[in-house]
Amino acid sequence: MKSMKLYSHVHRIYNDLSALGIGPQDALTVAQLAPFDQYHYDGTRAVDLAVTRLAVGPGSHLLDIGSGIGGPARHIAATTGAQVTALELQPDLDAVARDLTGRCGLGAQITHVCGDILNGAAGGPFDGILSLLCMLHIPDKARLFAACRAALKPGQAMYIEDFAEARPLTASEERTLAVKVQSSQLPTPDDYRAHLERAGFADVTLTDVTQDWRAVSAARVQAARDGRAANLAVHGPEIVAGLEDFYDAVDGLWQGGALTGLRILAR
Ligand SMILES: C[S@@+](CC[C@H](N)C(=O)[O-])C[C@H]1O[C@@H](n2cnc3c(N)ncnc32)[C@H](O)[C@@H]1O
Repeated sequence: MKSMKLYSHVHRIYNDLSALGIGPQDALTVAQLAPFDQYHYDGTRAVDLAVTRLAVGPGSHLLDIGSGIGGPARHIAATTGAQVTALELQPDLDAVARDLTGRCGLGAQITHVCGDILNGAAGGPFDGILSLLCMLHIPDKARLFAACRAALKPGQAMYIEDFAEARPLTASEERTLAVKVQSSQLPTPDDYRAHLERAGFADVTLTDVTQDWRAVSAARVQAARDGRAANLAVHGPEIVAGLEDFYDAVDGLWQGGALTGLRILAR
């Protein structure tokens, strides 16, 4: 996983907080963290859309699969009053997530679990599932969606944001995806729908957000270039070079027409 530079040095968020004058023991707000703790496209706006589509409310218990350092889970808990189980595979991300959640005073609403969705680590069943840019890491979609179905109460919904293959990929694009994005065997959008339906999901709607994510990716590359001096001062050269390399690699895939961005709702 650590050849994907988004996931190396995840403690860098403490550099960002320190630059704001926030120390390692200080209390935090969800709003203070939002610029740094959302590892998907379009930040908390995307999470708000998921909340609406899943009809999350104070009585809901949601499972967030691949919860990263916990940004979406904290935003949902703080804005809706829902309970969230935040399932994250990588122990260092999970540890940062737990620390930030505790310092936001959200420990009673969010249960952090470090484990693999494929091994039934999440428990459940839940009132809804959210998964933002995690499933691209899991090639065995049959096993993945069987695990998702088992974690969901009958009739409830799962909301996914993910990559799909837009066209047959070149060998170089496949290498970039495999090494720098830790992703192999992306499905096409039609494959995605078929996998979900075979696993027992119904009312599957796929929304193509490729244009939006292509623009977000280009803006992220530009912002990294424009902000390089400030980022170097906060994080140092290794972290800055790693993130820029990751952003450039993903942007090459977007601008080259290799990827389709999908928002998926399935029941
Ligand atoms: C791009 S990050 C997105 C994190 C979070 N959803 C967000 O939007 O901020 C995807 C996360 O999925 C996690 N992940 C990948 N495979 C997983 C699995 N099998 N079970 C649980 N988490 C997984 C990764 O470790 C990573 O933290």
